[in-house]
Amino acid sequence: MMTGSHCYCFFGIISIFFALIIHTLSSTTPPHFCLHHQREALLEFRDEFPIDEFDPNPWNKSSPDCCLWKGVTCDDRSGQVISLNLADTSLNGSFKTNSSLFRLQYLRHLKLSYCDIQGEIPSSLGNLSRLTLIDLSHNFLVGEIPASIGNLKRLRHVELGANTLIGAIPSSLGKLNQLRYLSLAANELTGDIPSSLGNLSSLLELRLSINHLVGQVPASIGNLNELQAISLSQNNLNGTIPISFSNLTKLYHISLRSNNFTSTLPSDMSVFHNLEHFDVAANSFLGSFPKSLFTIPSLQVVYLDDNQFIGPIEFVNTSSSSSSSSSSPKLEILSLASNKFIGLVPESISKFLNLGEINLSGNNFNGPIPRSISKLANLQTLNLANNNLKGQVPAYLLRVTTVTLSNNFFSSYENPSEETLIEALDLNSNSFQEPFPRWICNTKGLRFLDLSNNLFNGSIPPCLEDSIASFSDLILRNNSFSGPLPDIFASATELRSLDVSRNHLEGSLPKSLVNCKALQLVNMESNRIKDVFPSWLGSLPSLHVLILRSNEFHGTLHVFIGFRSLRIIDISRNDFTGTLPPHCFSSWRGMTVLREEDDPYMADIINESVFYRNSMVIGVKGVELSFERIQQDFRAIDISGNRIHGKIPESLSFLKELHLLNLSGNVFTSHIPRSLANLTKLETLDLSRNKLSGQIPQDLGQLSSLSYMNFSSNLLKGLVPRGTQFQSQNCSSFSDNDRLFGLEEICGKIQVSNPTSQQPEQLSEPEEELFSWTAAAIAYGPGVFCGLVIGHIFTSYYHKIWSKKNTISGR
Ligand SMILES: *[C@@H]1O[C@H](CO)[C@@H](O)[C@H](O)[C@H]1NC(C)=O
Ligand SMILES: *[C@@H]1O[C@H](CO)[C@@H](O)[C@H](O)[C@H]1NC(C)=O
Ligand SMILES: *[C@@H]1O[C@H](CO)[C@@H](O)[C@H](O)[C@H]1NC(C)=O
Ligand SMILES: *[C@@H]1O[C@H](CO)[C@@H](O)[C@H](O)[C@H]1NC(C)=O
Ligand SMILES: *[C@@H]1O[C@H](CO)[C@@H](O)[C@H](O)[C@H]1NC(C)=O
Ligand SMILES: *[C@@H]1O[C@H](CO)[C@@H](O)[C@H](O)[C@H]1NC(C)=O
Ligand SMILES: *[C@@H]1O[C@H](CO)[C@@H](O)[C@H](O)[C@H]1NC(C)=O
Ligand SMILES: *[C@@H]1O[C@H](CO)[C@@H](O)[C@H](O)[C@H]1NC(C)=O
Ligand SMILES: *[C@@H]1O[C@H](CO)[C@@H](O)[C@H](O)[C@H]1NC(C)=O
Ligand SMILES: *[C@@H]1O[C@H](CO)[C@@H](O)[C@H](O)[C@H]1NC(C)=O
Ligand SMILES: *[C@@H]1O[C@H](CO)[C@@H](O)[C@H](O)[C@H]1NC(C)=O
Ligand SMILES: *[C@@H]1O[C@H](CO)[C@@H](O)[C@H](O)[C@H]1NC(C)=O
Repeated sequence: MMTGSHCYCFFGIISIFFALIIHTLSSTTPPHFCLHHQREALLEFRDEFPIDEFDPNPWNKSSPDCCLWKGVTCDDRSGQVISLNLADTSLNGSFKTNSSLFRLQYLRHLKLSYCDIQGEIPSSLGNLSRLTLIDLSHNFLVGEIPASIGNLKRLRHVELGANTLIGAIPSSLGKLNQLRYLSLAANELTGDIPSSLGNLSSLLELRLSINHLVGQVPASIGNLNELQAISLSQNNLNGTIPISFSNLTKLYHISLRSNNFTSTLPSDMSVFHNLEHFDVAANSFLGSFPKSLFTIPSLQVVYLDDNQFIGPIEFVNTSSSSSSSSSSPKLEILSLASNKFIGLVPESISKFLNLGEINLSGNNFNGPIPRSISKLANLQTLNLANNNLKGQVPAYLLRVTTVTLSNNFFSSYENPSEETLIEALDLNSNSFQEPFPRWICNTKGLRFLDLSNNLFNGSIPPCLEDSIASFSDLILRNNSFSGPLPDIFASATELRSLDVSRNHLEGSLPKSLVNCKALQLVNMESNRIKDVFPSWLGSLPSLHVLILRSNEFHGTLHVFIGFRSLRIIDISRNDFTGTLPPHCFSSWRGMTVLREEDDPYMADIINESVFYRNSMVIGVKGVELSFERIQQDFRAIDISGNRIHGKIPESLSFLKELHLLNLSGNVFTSHIPRSLANLTKLETLDLSRNKLSGQIPQDLGQLSSLSYMNFSSNLLKGLVPRGTQFQSQNCSSFSDNDRLFGLEEICGKIQVSNPTSQQPEQLSEPEEELFSWTAAAIAYGPGVFCGLVIGHIFTSYYHKIWSKKNTISGR
């Protein structure tokens, strides 16, 4: 220890000495020369962190003039270190409470952002009394903001954002009357906004977003006469916006998004005459449409979405210049979604000639799309979903990149005469009773098309082949399309989902689908497709969901080769025959491992499991089956309602992640394989209506996740396994078998060996009901799944365009 510091000192003296010699000899040496004690402080500061040098320009003893070290700036005359900027240098350590940093008494700028600093901010920071700028953002700082920061009276710029600071905002900050910029955003701060912040009379920007701040915005904020930008978004602030807020007339940026404000907006918004960005989305703001807002000439971005605004909307002319045709000529984004606006979408919306994005979804707008929208040459995104709009979809909309009109009453479309630029079109759930829009064959960049839940009819035109190359999603579910699905997919290499379910399609499955290497979902459910099993789909590397349910597929199932990504397969209610070979499932890796991590698409779909949570409670004969737990890891096989015979293949037991297995309504014989007990995730097992004999394997009693099972209408005998899962089943799950016993607890004391003799009505009845249950479970699963697919792809699509927009418009 002693020798160490001696050595240190010695070296220091030697190098200073050396440096002095150089200094006297060399005329090129800069006039400022590092002061010894400051150099020592810097070297000690360096040694407080567990790295050898600050890359790439090392701070070391053989480089004597510390004023030349990277990130160090000295005063020209005095040589005092006045600025330390190590931004983007990984220090990977924490501040010492008595860090030698605090000996650099002349520091004016301290910039240590993106430095991987951990630990707390020492309160000795308050000793650096000459600081005007401090930036410790984007580190891993914890603990509270030291109150001593309020001593640094010269501070003009404080940036502590993107750390994990906790506790309250120190009210001592209110003493910094020179402060122009304050950001504490993206921390874990709690408590109120201190009213002392109202004393920061020079403040230009206040950023407190993404914390856990509560309570009301203090009225004193209205004193910040110079304020130009305020962001309080993503906190738990509530109550009303203080009246004094109207005094902040220099604001160009206001973001109050995602709080709990229950307030009206200031009655005259036009006082904010410099306003560019106004975002109050996701609160409970009340009142009528803020007309005055749209008279501000500088306005660019307005988000009012997800509030409680009511009544009609209108865009008035500015009073000052009534001849001016556009009140807010720079307006680019207008989002009024998810409010209670009513009435027509006014023609006056097209005054804002620079609009690039309009979101009016989730209101009660009615009437047609205003014709004037054709004047908006820059419009890229139009979302009118979930309203009561009706009439014709005008052709000029097809110049817009992304158009969402779902859940309205549109009934026809105008054919465009020129080439369209559209990339995404969602007409889901409207009132179209028309043939397939043939103009789609002439598009070049269409990626997403959803026509589902309409009455589109006639055939799917073969000319679609000309535009299919750009498609990622083709969703035609639940219409009245007829004829064959044309063989148009040879160039569809981007296609991720193809859903033509619930139409009247016939003929065979188009072989060109084998080229769709990106396919993740194929849904052919409820058509009249007549074909053998498409074993050639087994080569598609990402096929997760294959649904052929309720068609006229036939032939044997002996070739399940490939399908290594398959997670859900439903080939029920067809006419498949033959046996399942013993090893037929062995290549289905998707059912044996969870591979979420390498599949963000799938992860995103299932993360939005809100859909599942809300919708999947299905009653089966008094048993409430809740599908709340259906999630990303859901794996299912449904082969029910075919004519497959022979043994249940042992290789099923390799599909370790399987949640649902339905083999009911076939002609399976022999005994139930014991190895099914290896399927420890199994929640639903339906083997009913086969010719299975022997005992129910006792090991199945250990399947603790199994909440529904059905063994009825077989030739089973012997002791029903013990175990809670079995004991909680309905009696009918075991009815109509040979000689099952041990059913006293399940069926009540009266039934002993053959429950069916006591409950004859359960014999005939269950078929359709159980069937519709499995149908519901599996078909609804993927159905919802599909809904999610659609919803998700579309939103992610928006996000892309959207974030592009946002980067353009800055904040
Ligand atoms: C000290 O820094 C100089 C450059 O300033 C460099 O050339 C030298 O190698 C460094 N010495 C050590 C021991 O890192
Ligand atoms: C940072 O320090 C930790 C130990 O405190 C070490 O595990 C880690 O590798 C270091 N990271 C870097 C980038 O040096
Ligand atoms: C900071 O100042 C206080 C007194 O104002 C003193 O007690 C403390 O030692 C100082 N800290 C450092 C690191 O200089
Ligand atoms: C800082 O304090 C530690 C003990 O808390 C002590 O070992 C060290 O010498 C002190 N450093 C300075 C620069 O005062
Ligand atoms: C802020 O100003 C008020 C007067 O407007 C004063 O009473 C209060 O002490 C000041 N707070 C601070 C922290 O300086
Ligand atoms: C808003 O308040 C409601 C109850 O008043 C509460 O349930 C909700 O969590 C709050 N939201 C936020 C973001 O604080
Ligand atoms: C605002 O939130 C605070 C605490 O978070 C609560 O005590 C208060 O009742 C809320 N006020 C209103 C108007 O909701
Ligand atoms: C607004 O500012 C004026 C002076 O600039 C002041 O007289 C008035 O009290 C302020 N209003 C509010 C509500 O704070
Ligand atoms: C608003 O301005 C437009 C274009 O100058 C004009 O046609 C319209 O009549 C004006 N509306 C009102 C209500 O003044
Ligand atoms: C429009 O609003 C809806 C509903 O709030 C939202 O889901 C969607 O992401 C918004 N953005 C676009 C571009 O549609
Ligand atoms: C499609 O539906 C319309 C309206 O119901 C009907 O007039 C037309 O004949 C149908 N076309 C086909 C091919 O079924
Ligand atoms: C499946 O279970 C059987 C016993 O029922 C056991 O012998 C076999 O090793 C298991 N297979 C796997 C792959 O776990």
